[in-house]
Amino acid sequence: MAGKNNPTAASVLGKDDLIVVGGAGGFIAGALVRYFHEQGFTRIRAIDKKPLPQWYQRTPGVECLCLDLSNADNCERACEGAVEVYNLAADMGGMGFIERFRIECLRSVLINTHMIEAAYRAGATRYFFSSSACAYNTDLQKDPNVRALKESDAYPAMAERGYGWEKLMSEMFCQEYWAERRFETHIARFHNVYGEPGTWDGGREKAPAALCRKVIECKDQGLDEVVIWGDGTQTRSFMYIDDCVLGIDLIMHCDALIATPINLGSDHLISINDLMRLAERIGGVKLKHKHDLAAPKGVAGRNSDNTFIQQVLGWAPGTPLEDGLRKTYAWIEQQYNARKAGKHTVS
Ligand code: NAD
Ligand code: GDD
Repeated sequence: MAGKNNPTAASVLGKDDLIVVGGAGGFIAGALVRYFHEQGFTRIRAIDKKPLPQWYQRTPGVECLCLDLSNADNCERACEGAVEVYNLAADMGGMGFIERFRIECLRSVLINTHMIEAAYRAGATRYFFSSSACAYNTDLQKDPNVRALKESDAYPAMAERGYGWEKLMSEMFCQEYWAERRFETHIARFHNVYGEPGTWDGGREKAPAALCRKVIECKDQGLDEVVIWGDGTQTRSFMYIDDCVLGIDLIMHCDALIATPINLGSDHLISINDLMRLAERIGGVKLKHKHDLAAPKGVAGRNSDNTFIQQVLGWAPGTPLEDGLRKTYAWIEQQYNARKAGKHTVS
């Protein structure tokens, strides 16, 4: 592992300590469950409201429960006996979803509200909450040549409507449980996470998966023009899933006891036009760009300032975008072909 000799779950917990992961039918929490299983943990409880056949991945030997975590009784059941609780459940997606379904996004505040109380009552040792870069003040993100966002830039608050405010509120719950009840809580602000098996179609997909899929569609259908939302000058940074999962473990077990939100993201800024060019290069094709200016765009620029994470962990997400995107592209191509062949896919 890069950086300092950081504590991790493997060095801090017993192998039969119960780890509870919410949102495990989805992308990141599903990968986190697999990560803990590979570390040798024998008691992992994975929970999602989606019916089990719709989970993106299921790790053999892991207890999987289908429960709606916006319900307090279900959270109590979910957290029974837990030593650590990771809450990654949320109704969310890329810009196409969060700009259109703000009420659904806001409702996720119920999940964290009930999960943290249930984890506290169950006597869990630690609690993790997955926040987002959408919690940052949007006034600071009006220029593609954005200054990278440091943790203090969330306040004064002007978060992304709906989704961003839910994250800010849930962050506040976590911080007050630690301040008032001495319950150890950790908050990471994820910056756009991509990889396999992440949502790649259906309306919730984010730019990396969407752009890969569009290139694959163009190639398959013999099209020479691809549609990009906005004018493509918007900038973002993108974190590969393996970095995200490792970062969650390091933040949760850091002996510096990080009580305030911390960025977990790449600091490699790229424009959406350049991201499309990268996807085209990976696909071995050159396409004309058509810009849909009426499509959801979100902020003009967003990047992660990794000074704080470097300071406390001596580590920051470092997977090169091209390496991660190649793997993601290859996986989406498989999914695309599987769907064409009438097989089951992640969507
Ligand atoms: P995802 O949509 O793949 O996974 C979220 C899961 O939560 C889904 O499987 C969904 O069914 C489940 N869920 C929703 N409501 C639920 C409920 N009431 N009870 C139980 N389960 C419920 O999303 P993801 O990309 O894996 O994101 C995981 C977490 O990370 C979320 O909290 C998200 O806001 C946060 N995050 C993700 C990104 C990103 O780029 N992927 C960026 C910032 C923050
Ligand atoms: N989704 C998508 N699909 N975005 C596209 C597309 C497309 O086909 N074409 C261009 N874009 C542009 C969007 O208009 C936006 O400007 C940019 O790509 C990034 O879009 P997303 O990846 O959908 O979302 P985001 O980066 O604005 O926000 C995401 O990251 C946050 C954390 O950094 C979302 O996933 C949030 O939910 C998340 O919290």
